[in-house]
Amino acid sequence: MAIVIVDDTPINLTLIQALVRKLTPAGTEIHAFVSPVEGLQWCGENEPDLIIVDYMMPDINGIEFIETIRRRHPADAVPILMVTAAHEKEVRYQSLSAGANDFLTKPIDRHEFDPRVRTMLALRDSHKRMRSWNDDLRDAVIHKTAEIVARERETVTRLARAAEYRDPETGAHIVRMAHYSELIARHMGLDAEYCERLLSAAPMHDVGKVGTPDHILLKPGRLTDEEMVIMRRHATIGHDILSGSSSPMIQMAAEIALNHHEKFDGSGYPAGLAGEAIPLCGRIVAVADVFDALTSSRPYKLAWELERAVSFLKDGRGSHFDPVCVDAFLERWPAVLTIRERYQDQE
Ligand code: C2E
Ligand code: SIN
Ligand code: SIN
Ligand code: FE
Ligand code: FE
Repeated sequence: MAIVIVDDTPINLTLIQALVRKLTPAGTEIHAFVSPVEGLQWCGENEPDLIIVDYMMPDINGIEFIETIRRRHPADAVPILMVTAAHEKEVRYQSLSAGANDFLTKPIDRHEFDPRVRTMLALRDSHKRMRSWNDDLRDAVIHKTAEIVARERETVTRLARAAEYRDPETGAHIVRMAHYSELIARHMGLDAEYCERLLSAAPMHDVGKVGTPDHILLKPGRLTDEEMVIMRRHATIGHDILSGSSSPMIQMAAEIALNHHEKFDGSGYPAGLAGEAIPLCGRIVAVADVFDALTSSRPYKLAWELERAVSFLKDGRGSHFDPVCVDAFLERWPAVLTIRERYQDQE
């Protein structure tokens, strides 16, 4: 504990100091100032636990002193005890409204002084304890939350890895399309939390393909209409696998799985939603997924040239795709190329 005493009369200062010394355990710091200016300076550079201040002083009176302390640290609850002459009733009211916690009358009576100082120090002590509990609790919550987030990521990675065992799409496709999705979201000005969630959730858009039979999923040629009907179930299967989670990230992943093949003009699947009825994450992922599918080779097709894929996006702007998402993607073209180069398929 550090106690500050400010009184321009040296004899009063000595008296108060002696009273405080008797009340407090050894090791308590007592800083006594005849100059309120020096007292204020000390309080600005250190953290006092109790301030005892006289009212009538040259330069700065006790009320101005208290106002300055309270203005500097509005949230800090350092107790302040004001010392006034018995007749200064108006001053006592003012001192209370300036932020003093209590006052003492001169001449100082130790039967009055002792219990007040004790009470204030006890209050200060419990305030500090509470603050330290709060800090510990906050640290624990931060730590636990980071742990949960890391575990959630791990679960998701394992889920995506399971899907990769069957899916001809490589891990690199999943990473690229997730980064394209994030880049679109950022360029659209969506908040950082949304963008990060999208980056984590987008890789799961096709987990429903674990429910697609091999002869369809791995077919080296074009799918028949009947096969395409079965293929399209991957959107609802993915949603079934992912929905109902309490994790906002998995919730987004479920929404993406369900909606990434919807088209802006309502001609997509599974629900045929149009425009903004399609959840935004679905509209964003549609651009990212198709662009990467087109520019990658598949069991059923060769990779397209970049220009051809860009033309496909431009042609589908407003029909297949949300125009805002297409524009955001093309406006970030250099970043698209960087992602494409950074995450190449392993042979
Ligand atoms: P995917 O290979 O990841 O393709 C995702 C989406 O990219 C496709 O959704 C489609 O919108 C677009 N896309 C990919 N390749 C082409 C292409 O060569 N031409 C055009 N115009 N668009 C293309 P879609 O059509 O709903 O297909 C969903 C999934 O169904 C595909 O995912 C793929 O796994 C499978 N699939 C689609 N068509 C065929 C096919 O002819 N043969 C085989 N084996 N699988 C197919
Ligand atoms: C952004 O990164 O989304 C803004 C910078 C740009 O438009 O290229
Ligand atoms: C390109 O045409 O390859 C660049 C993308 C764009 O049109 O902005
Ligand atoms: Fe898909
Ligand atoms: Fe995909």
